[in-house]
Amino acid sequence: MLLHASARRVLRSLLVLIFGAALCGAQDFKKQVIYQIVTDRFFDGDTSNNNPSQSSGLFDSTKTNWQVYWGGDLAGIQQQMSYLKGLGVTALWISPPVDNLNLNIPDGSGKATAAYHGYQARDFKRIEEHSGDVNNTWTAFDAFVSAAHNNGIKIIVDFAPNHTNDNSAGEFGSLYDNGTFLAAYNNDPNGYFHHNPNISNFNDRYQLQYYTLFSLSDLNQENASVDSYLKAALQQLQQHHVDGFRIDAVKHVTWGWEYSMANAAFTFGPSFFYGEWFLGGTSDPLYHDAYKFANNSGISLLDFSVNTAMRDVFANNNGFSELDNTLTTENANFTWQNDQVIFLDSHDVARFLSVNNNTNRLNEATAFLLTCRGIPVIYYGDEQYLHNDTNGGGDPYNRLWMSSFSTTTTAYKLIGQLAALRQSNDGLAYGGFQQRWMNNDVYIYERKFFNDIVLVAINKNDTTSYSITGLNTALSPGSYSDYLAGLLGGFGITVNSGTGGNNPVTAFTLPAHTVAVWQATASAAAPEVGSIGPTVGQSNVQVTIAGKGFGSATGSVLFGTSAAGIVSWSDTQVVFKVPGVSPGVYNVQLKNSGGTAANTIQFKVLTAKLIPVTFTVNNAISTNVGDYIFLTGNTVELGNWGTTFDTAIGPMLDPNIPNWFLNVSVPAGQTVQFKFIKIAANGTVTWENGTNHTYIVPTSGTGFVNVNWQF
Ligand code: NOJ
Ligand code: NOJ
Repeated sequence: MLLHASARRVLRSLLVLIFGAALCGAQDFKKQVIYQIVTDRFFDGDTSNNNPSQSSGLFDSTKTNWQVYWGGDLAGIQQQMSYLKGLGVTALWISPPVDNLNLNIPDGSGKATAAYHGYQARDFKRIEEHSGDVNNTWTAFDAFVSAAHNNGIKIIVDFAPNHTNDNSAGEFGSLYDNGTFLAAYNNDPNGYFHHNPNISNFNDRYQLQYYTLFSLSDLNQENASVDSYLKAALQQLQQHHVDGFRIDAVKHVTWGWEYSMANAAFTFGPSFFYGEWFLGGTSDPLYHDAYKFANNSGISLLDFSVNTAMRDVFANNNGFSELDNTLTTENANFTWQNDQVIFLDSHDVARFLSVNNNTNRLNEATAFLLTCRGIPVIYYGDEQYLHNDTNGGGDPYNRLWMSSFSTTTTAYKLIGQLAALRQSNDGLAYGGFQQRWMNNDVYIYERKFFNDIVLVAINKNDTTSYSITGLNTALSPGSYSDYLAGLLGGFGITVNSGTGGNNPVTAFTLPAHTVAVWQATASAAAPEVGSIGPTVGQSNVQVTIAGKGFGSATGSVLFGTSAAGIVSWSDTQVVFKVPGVSPGVYNVQLKNSGGTAANTIQFKVLTAKLIPVTFTVNNAISTNVGDYIFLTGNTVELGNWGTTFDTAIGPMLDPNIPNWFLNVSVPAGQTVQFKFIKIAANGTVTWENGTNHTYIVPTSGTGFVNVNWQF
């Protein structure tokens, strides 16, 4: 078809209108710096939505009741866009924007409380009246998203599919579909909710997923109506050009279902997902479950282990080895370590300055956050040294009003400089992490992506300086000035020539409270791949590979010997569709137009779109403490007959021992073969006898399959 140039232009703008974000390759978030905003507490841009009639009385203009609305809204964030752009952040993570609980649920002393934080939804298909407008329309939301996009800033929506609102007061969990009542916790004929007690054991996989989190009405995602409702709500947000999602409480939503939730979004269009899986650290009993989830679901995780270690080291006085050990452990376990989302403060923990009121330390921790591996999140107000220490400064005192928008604080400048470095030096976004020199107070580490190198030195001690001898770096011989230009006391170094990527640095003194950043970049001799996203998907799902040196002429992306269909190609980013290859894990290979190959990167090709199915095995073989029943089967989604904790599907859940069950996302329309196995505490595997079970996965909705263990 021949089209006149102007007709082509019109067509192109129409396509952009229709597909919007789908064309902007939002999967690669590693170059972003995320800024987390509690929408109600940031800026009041529209006073007409402060006390809407459908939820009147939940607003406190005096800002003395910390548990009700204070007036911040989407229009307010929009009005502060140049402040945010100046800060250098490139993505905003906002509170859940959807319609929340309308009624006051007084606290123990009779004081009003409201869902000002957004975690008590009533209608996932409308915008909260305090955030948008009194008619719950999308107008303010859309204006906010396009203002952000016009400033090169992406939008991440906090999405909370685990629950609606309080199950014992107020609206009793009421759920609406764009205004139409669906069900409530106390009016639930179709089983939209789980009716179980509050979670008491936070290490019990069954309780975590099927019990109630803090009296919040727990949605039953295995119900086909709930499944399609939540996926439609996510898709609606994608249609409103949201670039990514922070999934609330992923540990409490049915884990298998979440694979299908992310897959539904990736099937619709590009997006980035990260989940809140609260972990005590790398020795948490569910640490292994957490990284198995991150490595297989397409959902990255907020890095709670690094968060704890950072706070221990910078706010308290633990030595740097705690942080170094955490990174070493996690980097060995997470397949896509640079996709993990790292943070220092959040709406759920006391602000750093409430723990240790030392702004030097906050600056040092912020510099670390922005140069460590992973995608950094700045919690709103940290750049203004905001804190309120009432009761130790935890929730709600960590959600204080954003009372200052100064663009001259040290932290504001620091964030801007390091966000710019993330754009110019791929070591930060895509590089490995290597410790180069360490004691309790000093941490010197290197981020390296081919010849893009960033070397960072931190001394967090309040008074002691250290003499740094024997430091090596991959930086080439020469002189390097401090990238921060002395903002945190840094200075230049001299690198001498050595061997094997270990070039000695001339000894220097690192004074108390210093951060120095030395860096270099080099153009790529061959294509260099640093990122793939999403990390899992079936044929035809759109994927982005990022890095450098791809050339401007279209080359190829290979899955084995099969070439993917290329959607767009630039020197730093290639968008393509997953080819119709046999399912499995691939080391994807990019080649430039001259045929020069890049390093490979891992991606899992699914058999088909995912459908959540609950597998039950009755009267299973007996187990002892530490033994678990797992599911394994003949497709990549079922572990390709794997028999280890990491490759089989599980552990299954056993509230009705000796019957075990698990919700698992499996390929739509496929006939799958499967069996159950016992993996004993010592790793010994016992298979059930007999022939394989078979099951035809439905093409839509949810599924259930129930069999007996074959002895
Ligand atoms: C975790 C959120 O971060 C927290 O603030 C919220 O209250 C709970 N999930 C429940 O949604
Ligand atoms: C739960 C235990 O943790 C698990 O190891 C065991 O197999 C079952 N209960 C059955 O005893």
